[in-house]
Amino acid sequence: MQYTTKTGSLSKIITACLVIGVHEKRKLTPEVATLDKATGGLISSLLKSGDMDGKSGSTTTIHHPTGINAKRILLIGCGEMNKCTAKQFRKIAMASAKAIKALPVNEVVSALSATEVDDLDLSSRVKAEIEAYGINSYSFDQLKSTKSGGRKKQPRSLAFHSHNRSESNQIADAIKQGAAISSGITLTRDLSNLPGNICTPSYLASQAKKLEKSHPAIKTTILNEAQMKRLGMGSLLSVSRGSRQPAKLITMEYRGKGVKANTPPVVLVGKGLTFDAGGISLKPSAKMDEMKYDMCGGASVFGTMQAVAEMELPIHLVGIVPSSENMPDGDANKPGDIVTSMSGQTIEILNTDAEGRLILCDALTYAKKFKPEVVIDIATLTGACIVALGNHTAGLLGNDDPLVEELLDAGKDSGDRAWQLPLWEEYDEQLKSPYADMANIGGPGAGTITAACFLARYTKEYRWAHLDIAGTAWNSNGIEGASGRPVPMLTQFLINRAGK
Ligand code: BES
Ligand code: MN
Ligand code: ZN
Repeated sequence: MQYTTKTGSLSKIITACLVIGVHEKRKLTPEVATLDKATGGLISSLLKSGDMDGKSGSTTTIHHPTGINAKRILLIGCGEMNKCTAKQFRKIAMASAKAIKALPVNEVVSALSATEVDDLDLSSRVKAEIEAYGINSYSFDQLKSTKSGGRKKQPRSLAFHSHNRSESNQIADAIKQGAAISSGITLTRDLSNLPGNICTPSYLASQAKKLEKSHPAIKTTILNEAQMKRLGMGSLLSVSRGSRQPAKLITMEYRGKGVKANTPPVVLVGKGLTFDAGGISLKPSAKMDEMKYDMCGGASVFGTMQAVAEMELPIHLVGIVPSSENMPDGDANKPGDIVTSMSGQTIEILNTDAEGRLILCDALTYAKKFKPEVVIDIATLTGACIVALGNHTAGLLGNDDPLVEELLDAGKDSGDRAWQLPLWEEYDEQLKSPYADMANIGGPGAGTITAACFLARYTKEYRWAHLDIAGTAWNSNGIEGASGRPVPMLTQFLINRAGK
């Protein structure tokens, strides 16, 4: 999709489809009232007829309206005038994207971003429309022999209507960001949706190399198992020992133009478990296929790196993706095994299915080498997080309250939210082991928190936050697949930081 801007009065614009917002109680903005007048009252009479009532998210198309240059008007219900919230606008943008996608046109012009929204400025409204369009037009059919294809004619260009030069400049900046975030989300979804037999640790490593090739500001390094062994990553390697696929430690480093060499980076660490069978503590077979999504945290690091490079943000960003499979094997971890992590701390593995923390802890120790400003890890870490928070919000824990606040804010700004859980020492005590420095599980209660407490033992030397995305990374009802979350939150967090 090509995104552009278009200036001029609505009635003069030449397009196959003009998208406008209308409100309940037949209220029209002055601009839409002028457009209505030019059509001889087509819009107001439609509202009067009751065919379309302006309810938030409703849509109707008017064909060959007279008196104007657009071939169609797509009306999007925006609810009560001046009462639209950010949350509502995102839903409205989704409804609009769905309706646009269904039209047999090559291009559209949208004036939807003119809708007043209290807590969402013009740039964010444009970005929300682009994101909605990206999410709605996504399909994952690369592994089908016949592609879903759809209609021949699909909108290829979307122009955002602007009123003047300064607005059109503002929109152009928003387009650059929105399109970058949208393609980051798509990359994350594509990697996440790939099955475990294709998306292996080696495959992810090759994709990181590809990212380096297409974005000169990104430098990729891949560590193999021998190199990890030399670093003492006994915890990570104990997980991959049970798999025929060799583990990889992927590092992608991005430095924006003009960013000083000694600027401490933001480091993102994403769990890249390409298939989680549970190991010897084997998972039940129902829905085990969904464990191909256990690399969604890693995939979100890929998507965020790409988006940041495309936005050319003036920041220093490092993405680390420890990648492995977790399989049962003659050489796999056994319950009761004790391993030594890169930090020197020993771990009694009481459940081989709590493997995410075993690969993350070594990656978090490795992160120290970058002298980070902050470290954020992203992981489909615990089923308990789904029990606690469902599929609507990510779990968030950390050792630095300002950092946690920043992430919560970025979640609110982007509509991709997180919710904080307590990281108290009472919970940490659940990890005690009689034989090693810690156990890898903390008993039946508070599974998301004890998992974070485990990670916290490896992140004492820097400011750190942990996002448990087990509930938000994919939609479990079988149709939609990976969501691309939390790329919107992470990119917003980095945009906010770059602006400071
Ligand atoms: N990858 C899973 C967590 C998960 C489960 C994410 C379901 C999304 C949906 C993780 O490796 C795991 O198996 N965690 C265990 C931990 C337990 C053994 C302490 C879990 O949540 O059951
Ligand atoms: Mn597991
Ligand atoms: Zn897992």
